[in-house]
Amino acid sequence: MKKLRVGIIGVGSIAHEHIQAYQKMPQVELVALCDINTEQLEKMGKQYEVPQLYKTKEALLEKADIDAVSVCVWNSAHAECAIAALNAGKHVLCEKPMAITVEDAQAMQAAAEANDRLLMIGFVRRFGNDTKIIMDFKEKDFFGEIYYGKATYLRRHGNPEGWFGDQSRSGGGPLIDLGVHVIDLLTYLLGKSRPVSVYGATFQKLFNRPDVKDKQGYISSTPGEIICDVEDLASAMIRFENGSVISIETSFSLNVNDDQQKLELFGTKGGAALNPSLKLSTNINGYMADVQLKMPTALSMDGLFYNEIHHFVECVLEGKDCLSPAQDGVVITQIIEAIYESAKTGHEVTL
Ligand SMILES: NC(=O)c1ccc[n+]([C@@H]2O[C@H](COP(=O)([O-])OP(=O)(O)OC[C@H]3O[C@@H](n4cnc5c(N)ncnc54)[C@H](O)[C@@H]3O)[C@@H](O)[C@H]2O)c1
Repeated sequence: MKKLRVGIIGVGSIAHEHIQAYQKMPQVELVALCDINTEQLEKMGKQYEVPQLYKTKEALLEKADIDAVSVCVWNSAHAECAIAALNAGKHVLCEKPMAITVEDAQAMQAAAEANDRLLMIGFVRRFGNDTKIIMDFKEKDFFGEIYYGKATYLRRHGNPEGWFGDQSRSGGGPLIDLGVHVIDLLTYLLGKSRPVSVYGATFQKLFNRPDVKDKQGYISSTPGEIICDVEDLASAMIRFENGSVISIETSFSLNVNDDQQKLELFGTKGGAALNPSLKLSTNINGYMADVQLKMPTALSMDGLFYNEIHHFVECVLEGKDCLSPAQDGVVITQIIEAIYESAKTGHEVTL
């Protein structure tokens, strides 16, 4: 069996998921790691016993004998790392968000096409068991026409700090970091109709809550001065060509009782709520009925990364159709850029 030889660019927090997934797969050999932070690079190399360590993507791409890379750097470096890898003839799995501007996202897609390489975007929620089950119900026409979807992804005190609050490296706050997951998932579940207009609002009121003493949740591995010049709350409505609409709200910092991760779909025949387990609503024999499926907790990260990374490997080795291709990433980047634009001007943005 020919093994896929893989390298990882950016070995901070999320790289653990990529490394652990690749190391579980017999058809993959994780050959090399790369990071501009030498201390972090050496720590990860030692922890996972990866022999080849490179301080720059240029050195990795020139010297390591690899077929594919995972790009796990901060958001503003996704485009330069992915394009360099694609131009070096590697297949690329790029973490979400695809890029911080539409221009960058389009350049990444163009590099993939010019080099005839796969560029997959890490829209990890597409690979959940919950998503698979909803898609199964959708294909059997359980929902009828799905015309509205909404999602809340709210953290009360969950700015991961590091580069996450630094606009120049993140491209934004919870909208581009968390909102991207649910905008993508809703767009995917509703059938990927073309977005036509966007209305959004962002707020910068609580920053990273320097007044609150305890640190909680996901933390970036990148040290340094704490910068927070991104929004701490975003709310948006997106309208699609087929008439359907989605609405989302997402925060890093908000005076809300509990963190919330809820996603709902509403169709002419039935609806679905992930909160966090999946509940379906419909009429049975003329009576309104709720259906609680016996299934693993939904909207959980368990197994998601393995499923996503395994799919990437299958696409490269077996030529499977990619479930999360670059062109979808460009569309989601267009939506996010338009929400920030709408928030700035106070007006709807048409796409
Ligand atoms: N899919 C998900 O649910 C999920 C969850 C967390 C993070 N992410 C994404 O993963 C990416 C990384 O996030 P993280 O939390 O691991 O951040 P992190 O700060 O922990 O790690 C990022 C690493 O990238 C390195 N880096 C930056 N620029 C580089 C370059 N040009 N070349 C080589 N190394 C470089 C940094 O030194 C750092 O070690 C982000 O895009 C983030 O949005 C996705």
